[in-house]
Amino acid sequence: MVTATPPATRSDGSFLRPPRLVTSIPSVPGLPVIGNLLQFRADRLALHEEAARIGPIVRFSLAHIPVYVVTDADVAHQILADEADAFKKATGLQFLRPMLGDGLLTSEGPTHRRHRKLLAPAFAPKRLAAYGEVMVAETRAQLATWRGGKQVDLARELMELTLAIAGRTMFGADVRGDARTVAEGLELAMRALVDNLTSVVQLGYAWPLPRHRQMRRAVAMLDDVVYRLIAEARAAGVDRGDVLSMLLLARDDDGGPGLTDREIRDEVMTLLLAGHETTANALTWTWYELGRHPAALATLRQELATVVGARAVTVADLPALPFTAAVIDEAMRLHPPAYVTGREAIRDVTIGGHHFPARAILMINIRGIHRRADYFPAPTAFQPARMLPDAKKARPRHHFLPFGAGPRVCIGSHFALMEAQLVLATMIQHASIRTLATHVVPEPLITLRPRGGLPARVAAD
Ligand code: HEM
Repeated sequence: MVTATPPATRSDGSFLRPPRLVTSIPSVPGLPVIGNLLQFRADRLALHEEAARIGPIVRFSLAHIPVYVVTDADVAHQILADEADAFKKATGLQFLRPMLGDGLLTSEGPTHRRHRKLLAPAFAPKRLAAYGEVMVAETRAQLATWRGGKQVDLARELMELTLAIAGRTMFGADVRGDARTVAEGLELAMRALVDNLTSVVQLGYAWPLPRHRQMRRAVAMLDDVVYRLIAEARAAGVDRGDVLSMLLLARDDDGGPGLTDREIRDEVMTLLLAGHETTANALTWTWYELGRHPAALATLRQELATVVGARAVTVADLPALPFTAAVIDEAMRLHPPAYVTGREAIRDVTIGGHHFPARAILMINIRGIHRRADYFPAPTAFQPARMLPDAKKARPRHHFLPFGAGPRVCIGSHFALMEAQLVLATMIQHASIRTLATHVVPEPLITLRPRGGLPARVAAD
């Protein structure tokens, strides 16, 4: 998944008419005219933290555009779930359109509903179980490059691994030759997106800016591979057990013709982009915390030794590995890869007792909600035990929302959790990892990642 922050201006000209201010909401102090724009560009995370300290709904402004930061789980749930039909995704995502087209992440209304339904079977638990072996095998292949020991950037290693897993589960086993092109295309697109998100002025995509050219190059590289794979899969005409086969077989309820090549291309791109970086970051933050908490690592080792031993871990083992799941959850609580997500009101709507006008932009401060002391006592401490099943049951579910909520909740959440658990378990079984950073600075790019990566000394059997 990808989070997006609202741009300071918009290419359709509507920025000239900002929505009416909701004056009943307190604001983060800012400068005249530009408001909090400089702070937003320099340190978005700190701006969200400051908003969270002031209150549950707080306004900041990007020049004349007001943005409301929500750091309250009930209000967040109201926006994402109860009143979801009063909102659309925030406009920052639009820069991804050339790449993701009308895929699940960027589409709205009836198109989104239809595609969500057509994609659901590809993420059903039965289907997912078949991906488990691929996840473990790819992890073993990555670990094989660590034999003899070396120093690596663990963040980069995990990014490579989750991309390899995404490629195989999505396209089938015979595309390893394309993995490099896909990785390069995605990297290029992500850099262009970040350039765009952090620039003050958002010009239309037709403008010949370096970031637009970079995005076009990335799209061309990815299109080449994805369209060829679609043609091959269509020609084969059989279900090969991957997501692409599933999309080719998808049919509407009325037995209609299913998805066109263009629609399938949009979904494949979306899943590639939304799926691999988020999961890689969840795993990176998990290793960062395990490096700082040897007792948690020891408990994890013990659980795996008792339940799995030396054999390969399988999807069937996962229900018997609650501590493994809790460690990942707790890392995602402190460092949610999707640290904020934005919505724009499409009509006037009352949220948390305030009347918001159409076009108001609301940011759900997922990381801020996860770090509220009244939801999670000692909020900055890493305590996996609070994510064990009984402790979770004792708390309202919506206080923890790493995958969002409501009709646009992450479609890949089960896939991601399964992948994170299988990868983590396999790494513990077959590798020794000593992280070399005890304090890293979080960098809020598209997703939340450790600035400068996560250096580690690694070795594998
Ligand atoms: C730890 C890993 C992941 C995290 C933290 C994560 C987080 C999220 C969040 C918060 C959203 C909702 C965004 C919003 O409401 O604005 C989302 C949506 C989405 N995610 Fe994930 N995600 C993860 C992994 C994945 C994977 C593995 C896939 C696919 C294989 C995926 C595909 C998607 C898609 C397609 C959407 C859009 C769904 C829709 O709008 O209907 N994500 N994700």
